[in-house]
Amino acid sequence: MAKEYEYHVFQPITTAQYQESFYKAIGQNWALITSRKDDRINAMTASWGGIGVIWDKDVVFAFVRKSRFTRECLDATGAFSLSFLDHSTYAREYKFMGSVSGRDEDKIAGARLHAATQLGIPFIDEAATVILCNTMFRQELKPDGFTVQGLDKKFYPDGDNHILYVGEVVKIMAR
Ligand SMILES: Cc1cc2nc3c(=O)[nH]c(=O)nc-3n(C[C@H](O)[C@H](O)[C@H](O)COP(=O)(O)O)c2cc1C
Repeated sequence: MAKEYEYHVFQPITTAQYQESFYKAIGQNWALITSRKDDRINAMTASWGGIGVIWDKDVVFAFVRKSRFTRECLDATGAFSLSFLDHSTYAREYKFMGSVSGRDEDKIAGARLHAATQLGIPFIDEAATVILCNTMFRQELKPDGFTVQGLDKKFYPDGDNHILYVGEVVKIMAR
């Protein structure tokens, strides 16, 4: 019989206690943006994003192209998490979650990862750090917003633009 999976224990930390360099955390380590549509939990690899402060809230910034199933999930529920798995341990899983769409299959099961929830927001249990968010704002990055020539054509030749999602940080959890 398959061994029952033992879920990990996380400790809550405040945004002030968060010590990671976000340039490394998102740009080099990557994260899984995890969200839900109805009863389906889905996650996708992301290497672009940020953290900061706006509207008196500690927030994260995520950039999700219109074509992603993740975009449908984000718009369906208004909440998401960034799950940071150790890159060297989970390199294969990150590649898989960044190349297959949750529209076609249960990717989390396919990658042999495990979804859990906190405050009703899904995350990936194998993460070392998790940032849980409620979406506050979304807006497509449209051509007329670019102030540098060529960026729009370079990154969005076919109109599959990113949507900026600003998420209020509701909890950070660390192993
Ligand atoms: C390293 C890496 C980083 C990525 N970063 C992003 C990102 O920041 N935004 C985005 O929209 N897609 C990004 N992608 C592509 C999505 O992860 C990929 O299209 C995924 O299959 C979408 O899954 P979904 O349809 O289940 O949402 C990235 C892919 C990889 C491999």
